[in-house]
Amino acid sequence: MKVSIIGAGNVGATCADAIAFRSIASEVVLLDIRENFAEGKALDMMQTATLNGFETRVTGSTNDYSKTANSHVVVITSGVPRKPGMTREELIGINAGIVKGVTENVLKHSPNAVVVIVANPMDTMTYLALKESKLPKHRIIGMGGILDSARFKCYLSLALNASANDLEGMVIGGHGDTTMIPLTRLASYKGVPVSQFLAADALKKVAADTMVGGATLTAMLGTSAWYAPGAAVASLVDSILNDQKKLFSCCVALDGEYGQKDICLGVPVTIGKNGWEKIVDVKLNDEEKAAFAKSADAVRNMNSVLSAAV
Ligand code: NAI
Ligand code: 2OP
Repeated sequence: MKVSIIGAGNVGATCADAIAFRSIASEVVLLDIRENFAEGKALDMMQTATLNGFETRVTGSTNDYSKTANSHVVVITSGVPRKPGMTREELIGINAGIVKGVTENVLKHSPNAVVVIVANPMDTMTYLALKESKLPKHRIIGMGGILDSARFKCYLSLALNASANDLEGMVIGGHGDTTMIPLTRLASYKGVPVSQFLAADALKKVAADTMVGGATLTAMLGTSAWYAPGAAVASLVDSILNDQKKLFSCCVALDGEYGQKDICLGVPVTIGKNGWEKIVDVKLNDEEKAAFAKSADAVRNMNSVLSAAV
């Protein structure tokens, strides 16, 4: 099983490392426009093979897409990350051009690949990749909700002083500070609603911290985060390559589901070898439905500037 990761920066390289470390794929190709950068990262990773006990072959390439040929999954992280004070949305102009060009290049060499979009603003970049590539909708998946859900469970675990692995929780909607929707009502601690253990104020704070989870780290690090984003992409790739049918919150094309059409947005979907398979219809209450509609409006607004950007 072969995975190509475009952009060998913080997120791309961390994702490659997690895929190798967890032996998710037999081959990983890292590609970047920076001369020798992907090659250097790949070689460094290969030198951990005996230390970490993996067999995955990681190689790098400077913009030579022939090296990515016949990939089962292609991950697109190439793009500019946030700087402190910037929103993901402000990246649209520059990243739209990069994502469009990269998508064309990877599909020339891997016409059957499932394409995972990471570059921000991710919901809009996923929509762009879908429209430009004309691929069947099931083969384009935006990753944001897996990360946001992991952050949600992290903040819940801190509030509860509990193991994050004993918590269930999902974030749907857009991957933006104001567009994501942590589903606090449905979050559970070993199947028991977290509202039985946390007061409404504490739960509100968990949701608020989750929504600015990325911005908080960007302010601390001077650029956006990479450990959790890279690990989140690796989990998505695992479910695709190993046909795990995991239920993840992913950004996919909606055609009437959750009351939306002609948009890519985060909803619960099962993920298997052909990409995303089935959108799971969670019964939202009126407040959650309104938040989802508002999130869709904001993302649609951003999508509307795409034609000027590419
Ligand atoms: P980074 O700057 O560390 O890495 C980006 C890499 O892309 C650089 O090495 C750059 O040389 C490369 N690149 C730029 N244009 C390229 C092209 N045309 N072809 C090939 N490579 C190219 O940035 P980082 O932190 O890895 O973030 C990457 C993107 O992912 C950003 O847009 C960021 O906002 C986004 N992101 C999305 C997340 C999500 O959950 N969807 C989470 C974290 C970051
Ligand atoms: C994050 O959520 C900025 O999308 C990036 O960390």
